[in-house]
Amino acid sequence: MTADRPRYIVTVSVHVVEHPLVHDALATLRNKHTGPEEFRRAATRISVLLAAEALRDISTTTIVVDTPLGPARGSVIAPEIIVVPVLRAGLGMLDAVLELVPAARVGHIGLQRDESTAVASQYYSKLPASLDRAYVIMIDPMLATGGSAVAALDLLRRAGARSIRIICIVAAPEGIALVERHHPDVTIYTPAVDQGLNAHKYIVPGLGDFGDRLYGTI
Ligand code: PRP
Ligand code: URA
Repeated sequence: MTADRPRYIVTVSVHVVEHPLVHDALATLRNKHTGPEEFRRAATRISVLLAAEALRDISTTTIVVDTPLGPARGSVIAPEIIVVPVLRAGLGMLDAVLELVPAARVGHIGLQRDESTAVASQYYSKLPASLDRAYVIMIDPMLATGGSAVAALDLLRRAGARSIRIICIVAAPEGIALVERHHPDVTIYTPAVDQGLNAHKYIVPGLGDFGDRLYGTI
C-alpha cells in the first residue's frame, strides 16, 4: 500500500493464496496484452486452484468402495455445496469450480456497477432452495469498492445462507473493509490484495475490467 492511500485495518478473515501456479495465472490475467482466449484459460486455471484452497477444510464422510481387487476406504465431501457466480464476470470462474464439485447446485446473482458512480444494482437473481443447509461459495473475480459483494451477500443472507465463502481473483482493501463491516463472518479467498482504487473505482494495479476482458467487450 502506498503512503498517500488510506490504511485499512483488515479484520475480516482473508485467506491470501500463495501457490506459485495461482500467481503464474494471475500474471497472465494482469497483462494488458493477454487476449480473451488466453484470459479465459488463465481464469479457469486460477479458479480451479482457488476453489481447491477454499474447500480445503470441507468436512468429509468416510466410505468404503470396491476396487477391482477389494474394498478400500475413501472419503467423500459431506455438505452440499452451492456455487453462486455474480454475473457476469463470475461466470468466468464457474466451470472451473464445477469441475471440482460436479454435483454442486448453482445460483446466479446479476449485478451491474453504474459506470459513473460504481454503485451496483441488481438485475437478476435465481437461487436454489435450502441455502441454509449448504456450504455456499460466492464467486466474483473483482472485489473493488465491495458494493457488489455486499449486495450479493445481503441477498444470500436474506435467502437463508449461513456458511458463505467468497473467492475473488483481485481484491482492494476498500472492498475487504466493506465486506468486513457488513458480513464479518464471511471468509475471502484471494491471491492478491492490491494497493487500492483509482478515481473510477477500478482496482490499481488490478487487471482492468474483468468482464470486458473475458468476453471481449472492450
Ligand atoms: C465487476 C466485478 C464485480 C464488481 C466489483 O462487475 O465483476 O462484480 O465489478 O466492483 P465493486 O466491488 O466496486 O462492486 P461489473 O459491475 O463491472 O459487471 P460485469 O461483471 O457484468 O462486467
Ligand atoms: N470491476 C472490474 O472488472 N475491475 C475493477 O478493477 C473493478 C471492478
